[in-house]
Order: sequence, then C-alpha cells, then structure tokens
Amino acid sequence: MPTDPPPSSYRAAAATPSAAVDVSLRPPVFTEFVGQAKVKDVLLMRQQAALQREDVLDHVLLSGPPGLGKTTLANIIATTAGSKIHTTSGPQIEKAGDLAGILTNLQKGDVLFIDEIHRLHPAIEEYLYPAMEDYKLDIIIDSGPNARSIQLPLPRFTMVGATTRAGMLTAPLRSRFRINLRFHYYSIDDLAAIILRSASLLAIAIEPEGAREIAARSRGTPRHANNLLLHARDFAQVRAGGTITREVADAALTMIEVDHDGLDEMDKRILEAIIHKFDGGPVGLNSVGVAVGEDASTIEEVHEPFLIMQGFLKRTPRGREALPAAYAKIGAPPPRPRPASPGQPELGL
Ligand SMILES: Nc1ncnc2c1ncn2[C@@H]1O[C@H](COP(=O)(O)OP(=O)(O)OP(=O)(O)O)[C@@H](O)[C@H]1O
Ligand SMILES: [Mg+2]
Repeated sequence: MPTDPPPSSYRAAAATPSAAVDVSLRPPVFTEFVGQAKVKDVLLMRQQAALQREDVLDHVLLSGPPGLGKTTLANIIATTAGSKIHTTSGPQIEKAGDLAGILTNLQKGDVLFIDEIHRLHPAIEEYLYPAMEDYKLDIIIDSGPNARSIQLPLPRFTMVGATTRAGMLTAPLRSRFRINLRFHYYSIDDLAAIILRSASLLAIAIEPEGAREIAARSRGTPRHANNLLLHARDFAQVRAGGTITREVADAALTMIEVDHDGLDEMDKRILEAIIHKFDGGPVGLNSVGVAVGEDASTIEEVHEPFLIMQGFLKRTPRGREALPAAYAKIGAPPPRPRPASPGQPELGL
C-alpha cells in the first residue's frame, strides 16, 4: 500500500513550509536574490542615494502574491544598509502601546518590517501616520480628566510593509510609503536558477533539465519551487536512484497532481466549479469558495492571480469568468458564445 499523504494534505504542507528550510534557503544579499530586476534596480538606486546623503531609505511597500520573496527582500534591505531589522505583523500589533513599544526601541537607520500590513487595526494606523511622516509619536496617557497627549521624537527609520493584498490598504497609509514596489511571478529561467541554488545549498543531486521541469511547474513562485524540489529529492532518494533528472521530476510532481502548467488540485477544482456549477461564470468568489470548500480570500490571494496570469480566468465587474483555456484544461467542451447581457447592448465597436 502506498503510504504517501494524499494531495490535499500535501497542499497544506506546501502552503506552510518548514520554517527552518524557508530561512536557510533565503538569499541573504541582493546579488543572490534572483529575478525581480525592476524591484531590485529601484531599491538599489534609492538605497545608494540615501547612503551617499547619509540619510535613511524612505519607507517601502512590497506587495504581491505569497512566496515571491517579500520577507526575504525586507531582510536584504536591512543587511545592505548594515542596520537592524525589527519584525512584526499587522495582526500582532493589537494596542497603541504595542506600537509605542516597538517604535521607541528603534535606532537611527533601523528597518521596521511590518508583514501583512493590510491587517493593521485602523486605530493603530492613525498612530503610524505621524511616526512615518514626521518621526514622532503622539501618545495619550492617563484617561478621563487627567488624559493628556505627549509627543515622543523617534529616530529616522525605514518602514518596510509587506502585503499580499495591496488593494486592501487604505489610501492614507499607502501614500505614506514613498517607494511602492510590486512583485511579479518569476520566469521559468529565474525559478530554475533558484532551484539550482537551493539544490546546491542542500547538497541535492539534480540535473539542469530536472530543475527546469520543476521550475515550469512552480506557478512562478520560489516558495513552491523549493517545496517541489524537496518533494522531488525525497522521490529521487526513495524511488529513483538519487538524482533528479527530468523524468524523475516529472514522475515526482505527477504523483502529487502538480500538472505541466503548475496547476494543483485546488486550481483545477476552482476551474471545474466555475465551468460545471456556474456555467462558466460570471460568478462571485464567495460562491466559488463555497463550491470548492475553500476560503474566498485564500482563492483571491493564492489561486486567482496565477489563474488570471495564465489566461484561465478573467475578472469582470459581475464576477469571475472562465476563459477558453480553462475549458481545455479540464477537458470540457468549449463555451457557447454568450448573448449580449440585457441593458448592455453591444456597440459593435
Ligand atoms: N528572488 C529569490 N531568489 C531566491 N530565493 C527566493 C527568492 N524569493 C524567494 N525565495 C525563496 O522563497 C522563499 C519564500 O520567500 P519569502 O518568505 O520571502 O516570500 P514572501 O513574499 O514573504 O511570502 P508571504 O507573502 O507568504 O509572506 C524564501 O525562503 C526563499 O528561499
Ligand atoms: Mg513573508
């Protein structure tokens, strides 16, 4: 009897990789950070300019889907500037006092990394504005008739915010980040380079063609690439003579239902639900979520951007619609031409 975990539990593992491996594979400096050329170019230039003026880097917002390297880059920013990084996350800052504690611990030039910044409490945001803009903190001490506001000066610091949901940030908060950088999915070449780097760090035997096979099926995401590499390593070790060749990588990934386009079981279930249960859409994400038993926000953050990027889905004002490639992917007959919707006459333009 096979003892491998079923694909669904593998997915859960893939979403939350072993923290130790994630950290050990993290490139520590810009030169080892593969891809995202635009993001790196802007950051390196701004950081050099700040350094020449003996100033600190402006606040940076990093946005993009999970696993593309936002946390990694935040750490590299601090390392490059030779400064200390203080890491926290939006939901962790519950009270103004928590924030005051963090801010008053900062030294000049330090990096304050706030992960999941879209989940910051609105009341906390208010305290952040003057801290980010004028490097001061207004806090109210005591309550009732004794309440008074005191102002604490803060050292100049760099705030780095990371978010998978840039659209959920309030406009005032977003505008206080002077450097706003968006991560894009990685090319197959970049992912293959990341896989070869990880393999060499972990002493995994892999052929370049094996790395490319894994790269092509990593949905543009370094974290997936590393997770698939670890799966392929174990597969090669137990069932295939130790080295990850193209054929070994293919067999390893087929075993966990990661297909040739990198779509996993949940991606395909989403496409199937939209096509079979909702006649191809348009359909709201909440309905899709109920149909596949997944949280709508996970679909929006994790699955949908890749499916849109690959041309399987499109977003319309009335919901998500399956595109012809989605029908082909799940082996359904191509969609019927749609009649023009009432109230929106076709203009023939
Ligand atoms: N450009 C890169 N070059 C090499 N490895 C990378 C790169 N980007 C990410 N990685 C690898 O992918 C892993 C995930 O990256 P990271 O944790 O920085 O992603 P993230 O964008 O912060 O994800 P999340 O939104 O889930 O927090 C890292 O541990 C690292 O090993
Ligand atoms: Mg992160």
